[in-house]
Amino acid sequence: MESDDEKSKRTIPDKILIKHLLKNLFINKKLMLIAILMMITQTVFFALGPYLIKIILDNYIAQKSRLEFLGIWFLYLIVVVLRFIPMYFQRWVLLIVGEKTIYSLRKKTYEKLQDNSMEYFDKTPVGDSLARMTSDIDSIQPLLSGEFLMAFSSLFMVIGGLIVCFLISLPLTLITLSVFPVIITFAIFQRRFVRKKWEAYRGFNAKYISSIAETISGARVSQSFARSEHNRADFDKLNEEYYQKGLSAFRSSSLFNPFYQAYTKLTIVLVLFVGGSMTLQTQGVVTVGILVLFILYLNQFLEPLLILTGLYALIQTSFSAFERIIILLDTPLSITELMDAKPLTCHSGKITLNKVTFSYDSGETMVLDDFSLFIQPNECIAIVGETGSGKTTIISLISRLYDIQEGSIKIDGQDIRNVTLQSLRKSIGVVLQEPFLFSESVRYNLCYGKEASNEEIKNVLRLVSADFVYDLSDGLDTKVGERGGWLSLGQRQLVSFARALITNPKIILLDEATSSIDPQAELRIQRALSKMLANRTSIIIAHRLSTVRAADRIIVIDKGKIIEEGTFDELLALKGEFYTLYQMQFRHEE
Ligand SMILES: Nc1ncnc2c1ncn2[C@@H]1O[C@H](COP(=O)(O)OP(=O)(O)OP(=O)(O)O)[C@@H](O)[C@H]1O
Ligand SMILES: [Mg+2]
Repeated sequence: MESDDEKSKRTIPDKILIKHLLKNLFINKKLMLIAILMMITQTVFFALGPYLIKIILDNYIAQKSRLEFLGIWFLYLIVVVLRFIPMYFQRWVLLIVGEKTIYSLRKKTYEKLQDNSMEYFDKTPVGDSLARMTSDIDSIQPLLSGEFLMAFSSLFMVIGGLIVCFLISLPLTLITLSVFPVIITFAIFQRRFVRKKWEAYRGFNAKYISSIAETISGARVSQSFARSEHNRADFDKLNEEYYQKGLSAFRSSSLFNPFYQAYTKLTIVLVLFVGGSMTLQTQGVVTVGILVLFILYLNQFLEPLLILTGLYALIQTSFSAFERIIILLDTPLSITELMDAKPLTCHSGKITLNKVTFSYDSGETMVLDDFSLFIQPNECIAIVGETGSGKTTIISLISRLYDIQEGSIKIDGQDIRNVTLQSLRKSIGVVLQEPFLFSESVRYNLCYGKEASNEEIKNVLRLVSADFVYDLSDGLDTKVGERGGWLSLGQRQLVSFARALITNPKIILLDEATSSIDPQAELRIQRALSKMLANRTSIIIAHRLSTVRAADRIIVIDKGKIIEEGTFDELLALKGEFYTLYQMQFRHEE
């Protein structure tokens, strides 16, 4: 797995990010067109104002014609007032464009997160995905709702301003243009600097959130181990580094601003000197009106130029977050459906694992090696084996949470890689080793795979002997707390049995919880199991003697290989691995 630091080093070129940005912004084509139209109108008004002042100065004040002066002055007033109308609408439209874009980005990232395969979730800390979905998206909000488009608008103004300057006086325009090389050089230099700092900062943000998320979800363990002192020290270190990274990131983006300010204002000083001298020497070529006009323009278009350089840095800060989102969106899924995938037709529930080879880390450590298992319709297979021998892995592979590297897995003769994921997973009921319930009501959890009527729920709950639900304070609508923590482990298990059964799957895969529960609950679960498994094909990873006994066939696996196989009595008679296991683990249960 790559570390956060490595991740933050991976850089998508600005060009590609801008392309992504435009693609996202132009989802709302009409609004964008309105915004651009408003920008152009604004630029025209922007250029018109100073020009009117020049006419007032040179033509009317100089020639003392009062009536025309008033006329033009009135026109100027109108221009100044009208300028704010496109400005207002531009902002308004951009705000909507920005928010809509964020909305669709959130939707896309959420959907991508849902579609991501288990490989992604194994490798990515919870906090990393959380950071991308929340603070990263939040921090590109200003980029989308204003900054980027403001930059556009400033660019229009700078170009518009330059054209007018050019028309008025070539020499003065050339002096003005001398600002650009220096400003651009600095902006490019600053870009690299800013981007690096902000990438580090955003990467660290994800690490920070991951750490917090882990503290919260591990609170029970950490309190039991009296780790709070230790955790505090760890957190202090983390916080200190966060502070340093934040300081250096924000410094990098605001450090240059005073320099830009001063530098651009110096240009005005220079133009005033040269233009003033020209006015004094060559009467008539550069009039007072032209000089004033020029300085007004300069002042006006240096402002967007300043905004532009400032924004350039600011955009870089958002790009670091945007990049993290694009990486999430663009990383290909490792489990995909074929283009012409058909729904699985699962009538008999025959499962075939043929010469399956699988490793979690693409070949380094084999978990299953040339593993074959043929399961007949309605057969109940119990898998036993030491911890880490690959039992849970087999179940994950049949639900296609991971793809195998070699061999094939077929259900009723259809390779699971050729059918739709939805149909595959709907045909299989899975009970996980650690029952995970969502922090909603019992009903919500039961109906997780399929909406069911009260009657259906009642039948399923009776089938798995989970009638206790009706004795809870709010019956089916009782909240179960975070991860189902308000229910006991045994109760959680029964609810997760019922959840797996509610879709009436032909195949049941059950990873028995290792922790032991009280004999009464044990008996209940046992009864539930036998009813649950009737008329279905099932694989049970067994940790209880009663389950092992009830199975049609038992397979013993060790390091991803089947070492013994047979009925309970056959295996005991064999006096091999199973017999030893029986002596150690199961016998005391009798
Ligand atoms: N998500 C994962 N990523 C990488 N390696 C894994 C992952 N899950 C399991 N493994 C490795 O694969 C091997 C088999 O794990 P598996 O969970 O299948 O064991 P198990 O037989 O179910 O054990 P237990 O009885 O303790 O539940 C182990 O060596 C484990 O370290
Ligand atoms: Mg397991």
